[in-house]
Amino acid sequence: MSRVAVFGAGYVGLVTGACFADLGHEVVVRDVLPDRIDALRRGEVPIFEPGLDELLARNAERLTFTLDVAEAVRDAEFLYVAVGTPPTYSGDADLSAVWTVVDELQGVEQPAVVVMKSTVPVGTGAKVRHRLDERGLTHIGYASNPEFTAEGTAIRDFRHPDRIVIGAFDLVDGDAVEELHRGIEGPIVRCDVASAEMIKLAANAALMTRISFINEIANVCEATGADVVRVAEGVGLDRRIGPSFLRAGIGYGGSCFPKDSLALKQLAANSGYHFQLLNAVIEVNELQKRRVIGKLKQHLGSLRGKSVALLGLAFKPNTDDTREAPSLVLAGRLVAEGADVRAWDPVADGRAILPQATIHDSPLEALDGADAAVLVTEWPELVELDWAEAARRMRNALLVDGRNLLDPEELRSAGFAYEGIGRAAG
Ligand SMILES: NC(=O)c1ccc[n+]([C@@H]2O[C@H](COP(=O)([O-])OP(=O)(O)OC[C@H]3O[C@@H](n4cnc5c(N)ncnc54)[C@H](O)[C@@H]3O)[C@@H](O)[C@H]2O)c1
Repeated sequence: MSRVAVFGAGYVGLVTGACFADLGHEVVVRDVLPDRIDALRRGEVPIFEPGLDELLARNAERLTFTLDVAEAVRDAEFLYVAVGTPPTYSGDADLSAVWTVVDELQGVEQPAVVVMKSTVPVGTGAKVRHRLDERGLTHIGYASNPEFTAEGTAIRDFRHPDRIVIGAFDLVDGDAVEELHRGIEGPIVRCDVASAEMIKLAANAALMTRISFINEIANVCEATGADVVRVAEGVGLDRRIGPSFLRAGIGYGGSCFPKDSLALKQLAANSGYHFQLLNAVIEVNELQKRRVIGKLKQHLGSLRGKSVALLGLAFKPNTDDTREAPSLVLAGRLVAEGADVRAWDPVADGRAILPQATIHDSPLEALDGADAAVLVTEWPELVELDWAEAARRMRNALLVDGRNLLDPEELRSAGFAYEGIGRAAG
């Protein structure tokens, strides 16, 4: 069994740490946020990820949390980097947290492998390798082991991966990282570091491309009378295409897709290549979020003084993550139009992210007296909701179903004017 240090106690670092501990490894998770480390030591989980609290508790004897670098790296054979890489103003990835971690490794005396989990531009591994060499840390190896788990299903994804990608400069470092994953079944892709970095960015770009593609098909469906839900079903049954990521909606958000698409676009541009398709994917996504406003206006005219309820704030269900969530853009646009915004989400902290909105504890409360509702996140609670009661409570029963979650006919019989995304008008 190995000793693993994980830098970053966020969505990726905690899941990685908990899953490696569950495989029997000794794990130390290090973060720079005292509150976060204190909470973890008390057995509290600072993020919402299904199953994580149970997994951390079950492996508590093999998991330590610390603020102290020296404690984290002591005897560690693997130095996992899982810090944030948010976008800068230029769209490039901000690697400052990654460089801080690299600088913090100065005191590591034993042979170890730095393993990059954070999503980084192609070429980052080579730069890190260069810096380690410059500092005399030639006994430390380097591998890229990008993360493909999705929030909400991260633990299942880690345990049953579609693939494990390992890029290394030296064969032995790649072998060591592969051995660390023993016990996890899944195809292993071994490659050079640059290719591993690109696999992550390209995989995300492919998923975003499918989303923007089906969203554009949805917009053409709206203009021509077809129903994108049936269209996606018929298209997705083609084995060459497959059904995943063909759900039309109000666009993607989250902490990865928006920033990783910008980072890849910038990476290409900085290397002298204009990545036309990716630019279109990003633009389509931006426009898609804003189309909801047009749908509301079609029914309500001016939105000034109108009360609009946002149902769901997280960028997708089963997470409390609201980074780059479409709800934020929608709320901003609604406020700019003079609307009064009210919102509900079962786990995301609406008061922290939308100070301009009134936050309610239940969907029905949020809908009470509203002129329109927008279903933003496909929370299961919204499938179960008593929509007839909702229609009675609203001043005007209009629903824009931004995720095509509900049955248009049922909603219409419950008294709603129903607008989906790319669905034939009733
Ligand atoms: N969230 C996801 O589902 C997901 C999926 C795939 C890849 N990724 C990538 O993984 C990386 C981490 O994402 P995340 O969502 O976990 O981020 P996060 O913001 O949830 O967590 C990052 C953590 O790193 C900590 N940190 C910053 N500097 C540190 C340092 N010097 N030492 C130790 N900890 C430090 C922060 O305090 C924070 O707690 C990003 O590059 C992201 O693109 C994320």
